[in-house]
Amino acid sequence: MIAYRNLRVALLGAGSVGAQVATLLSEHSEELAARVGAGLDLVGIAVRDVDAPRSAPIDSSLLTTDAMSLIESADIVIELMGGLEPARSYILHALNSGADVVTGNKALLAAHGPELLDAAEQVGAQVYYEAAVAGAIPIIRPLRESLAGDRVKRILGIVNGTTNFILDKMDVEGESFESALATATELGYAEADPTADIEGYDAAQKAAILARLAFHTDVPVEAVHREGITNITAAQVSQAQKAGYVVKLLAICERLTDPETGIEGVSARVYPALISRQHPLAAVHGGKNAVFVEAEAAGDLMFYGAGAGGIETASAVLGDLVSAARRHVAGGPGVAESTHANLPILPIDSVSTRYQITLVVSDAPGVLARIAGLFSDHGVSVEAVEQSVGTSSAVPRVGGTGESSGTATLVIVTHEASERALSRTVKAIADQEVVVRVQSVLRVEGA
Ligand code: HSE
Repeated sequence: MIAYRNLRVALLGAGSVGAQVATLLSEHSEELAARVGAGLDLVGIAVRDVDAPRSAPIDSSLLTTDAMSLIESADIVIELMGGLEPARSYILHALNSGADVVTGNKALLAAHGPELLDAAEQVGAQVYYEAAVAGAIPIIRPLRESLAGDRVKRILGIVNGTTNFILDKMDVEGESFESALATATELGYAEADPTADIEGYDAAQKAAILARLAFHTDVPVEAVHREGITNITAAQVSQAQKAGYVVKLLAICERLTDPETGIEGVSARVYPALISRQHPLAAVHGGKNAVFVEAEAAGDLMFYGAGAGGIETASAVLGDLVSAARRHVAGGPGVAESTHANLPILPIDSVSTRYQITLVVSDAPGVLARIAGLFSDHGVSVEAVEQSVGTSSAVPRVGGTGESSGTATLVIVTHEASERALSRTVKAIADQEVVVRVQSVLRVEGA
């Protein structure tokens, strides 16, 4: 039975997600009202241009360019415009007008999350943002609620569909980065300017959001170490394959202790890494996303699904809308997020992981022993070495012709070592006369 007054919902933005939200809200209105215990009236949609084409049919009488007045009339404001401004000002205005906010704006949350969440707490409202990370996949609510009684140790996320599509294409079809990117653009995975995806900015924003929630600590997006996938070669991907690995762009959020300083803190980082083909994340193909959470009591959990797409992301938005609306009906203030742990953010140097290093060296007596000695000198333990005579066909040749005569390729996998120790080792190796070049250094994750 519906005994509560209808709630007024304002939508800011009618792009691919916004238009789907408007459509689903109208198509599912009776079901949603029954689930919430109150009707949800979409009272307006603020857009920049009321005449622009829409990806789903929406009632044009709802369109307005007067976002501020619309916001003031709403109980719940859904912000799906993207970008920092005016989205930030609109959300602050909504909170200060007494509305709850649902947003999918990862860039805004990564840049101004603490400001928006504090503003909500001040007025007893709440900001919901399930759609900001990994599209349709429920990961914000599991971290904020389901795992609130546990301790998260680490998150490994494939949170960018474009780069996963590209790397998967390179893995499955042996394509070069450039060719896989061209296919991603053609199929609409990659945007006209793919920088945010391929350079890891998009994943870094999501890592900042996940790390904050997982470790109850503010993590500025600038503190997320970021490396993109533009330098990943077909040769690296094929070599990884032979060794039983796959290359994935990972967003990693981890609670760790710096082995040298003993400081305990949070690391948030994004880079292409090798993971075993047996790891559940290796089975994430095409443009799909997945977030693998390692928690102290719960153990390993994986959340998998569509990380983008209008209707898929609209599902996450509507879930948040239902939560916000139910809270209105139940009454009481919003639930604030805690950053009580306030841990230091550790630099990449504090991280320890495993590494795969590929070297082209002179094929002469004592070379292997000399290289092994350098690992030992820097306290890095070697797990496996594989040597092939000549420049392996799996390794790109950039050194001109004739290199394969008298050279060997060494592929060395280390045990866990600190980034600091590893980079000192690699520098010392690169300085050796017998080393033609350091072909590739990739981290190995997910052990
Ligand atoms: N551009 C993102 C991706 C989707 O490729 O996954 C939105 O976050």
